[in-house]
Amino acid sequence: MFSKISWTLAIIFVAAAAIQVAGHRGFKSVPTTVKTFENDTVLLPCHVENSGTPARVRWWRDGVLLADSGEPTLLLPARIKMRENNSLEVSYVKPEDTGEYVCQASRPAPWGHVTQVHAIEVMYPPSVHPVPESGELEVAMGDEVDMACVAKGIPTPIISWRSKGEDLLLRDDRPRLRFHADTHDLSGRYTCVATNGVGQPATATIDLRIKHKPEIEVKKNWVHASPGIRAQLDCKVIAWPDAKVEWYFKDEKVPYTSRIVKHTAGSDHSLIIRNTRTTDYGEYLCRASNVLGIRDAVIELSGVANPATFKKESHSIGKTAYNFIWEVDSYSPIIEYQFWFRQFVRGGARSEWYKLLIPSGSNAIGPVHARSFNLTGLAEATHYEGLILSRNRYGWSRPSRLLRFSTEGAPAEDDDGLRVEAAPEQKIMPVVELEPMSQHSQHSGGYTSSGSWPASRTREFCFIQLSDVLVIFTVRIVVGRYR
Ligand SMILES: *[C@@H]1O[C@H](CO)[C@@H](O)[C@H](O)[C@H]1NC(C)=O
Ligand SMILES: *[C@@H]1O[C@H](CO)[C@@H](O)[C@H](O)[C@H]1NC(C)=O
Ligand SMILES: *[C@@H]1O[C@H](CO)[C@@H](O)[C@H](O)[C@H]1NC(C)=O
Repeated sequence: MFSKISWTLAIIFVAAAAIQVAGHRGFKSVPTTVKTFENDTVLLPCHVENSGTPARVRWWRDGVLLADSGEPTLLLPARIKMRENNSLEVSYVKPEDTGEYVCQASRPAPWGHVTQVHAIEVMYPPSVHPVPESGELEVAMGDEVDMACVAKGIPTPIISWRSKGEDLLLRDDRPRLRFHADTHDLSGRYTCVATNGVGQPATATIDLRIKHKPEIEVKKNWVHASPGIRAQLDCKVIAWPDAKVEWYFKDEKVPYTSRIVKHTAGSDHSLIIRNTRTTDYGEYLCRASNVLGIRDAVIELSGVANPATFKKESHSIGKTAYNFIWEVDSYSPIIEYQFWFRQFVRGGARSEWYKLLIPSGSNAIGPVHARSFNLTGLAEATHYEGLILSRNRYGWSRPSRLLRFSTEGAPAEDDDGLRVEAAPEQKIMPVVELEPMSQHSQHSGGYTSSGSWPASRTREFCFIQLSDVLVIFTVRIVVGRYR
């Protein structure tokens, strides 16, 4: 076994040595690759060993005779000359001069002929063109996207890709990109950059469009208004082909007038009501359609107050009391507040909610209503959480964000005392109300946001609080306690 391997190795070694000799044998010059730029002049050597007899030298390229020392009258190709010392001179080189050049030296018998191979590499800056050539690509959602960039240039350019201002992190420098159009976020402009270190990098772009049913984003699915005030409902529509957007109110297309105006800027669609009337209150549908489908989003225009916000000045007063300060935006006077609170034990079982009705304390007419309230009779050194709802003549508002608070001496949490749950208001939402469930499910197919707070129908709710632990209170508890 061992001897077999060593024989093989020996043969390889001998073969390698033979090739080495072949490159040099009979020559003083060595095989070279000349890297050069367009319009330069290149000299390829063919320095034959002196053996007394002068050799006849011929230059070949791809089997075509370029020059022959034995035939000085041979008509040489343009830009090529053979020097006295047998060197081949190529002037004003062009990209197509890149390739191998063979020098063949022949002498009378018994020597025969020897050859040496040189190469020219004319470096030139990259150029690139996209595939598809038009630079535009449209695919259906879920289809495979296949795009490429064909680059020229020497040295061979390296291709990298960018999209939306960021480099795409690919495992290699691939000229072809293939992926599934799983989401419309993948649409947009793809740029390939070809670089080879010569001159400036070259770029080409491909605009990818993914055909899909409209998608709607609604930031505020609930808008507070008051008679005489300007109100604006916003819905952002993403679609390809572009969607047609219409607004509906009470199952009918909104009749646009000088008072109620539809406004579009790119993907942002708005319904502007210049001088709100109470008859404008209700649910509006933003309906976007294209050839691939229709999508709706519901936005409610209502006179009820905005959710209250706790002020940072809220603080504990003594061992068993806490002072809360909050603000509410409402164009109509606040009649009363509901204050909900319960003990809070991180990771522990949630205790029951306590609800207090707090009179408004002022008849201030909007838009900002502030209230301070001292809650007494709390347990010492205990953590709580609470929230506020406000009622004006149009009904109960949606809840404020959850406030974490604690009485003096409570073990420190991650931070001290006052903390407003960062969860966006939409994350606290009613799951059950005493009205029939169908009220909600009727629309749920069309909602793109997390549902609307049915302010005008509000009685008592339970909450899902999604921020850290999922808690569901059944209606029974709430009703049993507070009826
Ligand atoms: C080479 O010469 C040609 C003709 O004079 C010119 O058009 C071309 O731009 C030159 N190329 C470079 C890289 O200088
Ligand atoms: C061959 O001659 C040219 C000038 O004619 C010179 O520049 C070159 O260095 C020479 N080459 C060799 C290998 O002597
Ligand atoms: C709440 O308590 C603080 C401190 O005892 C007191 O100064 C403040 O007047 C009280 N506020 C109300 C609204 O009772």
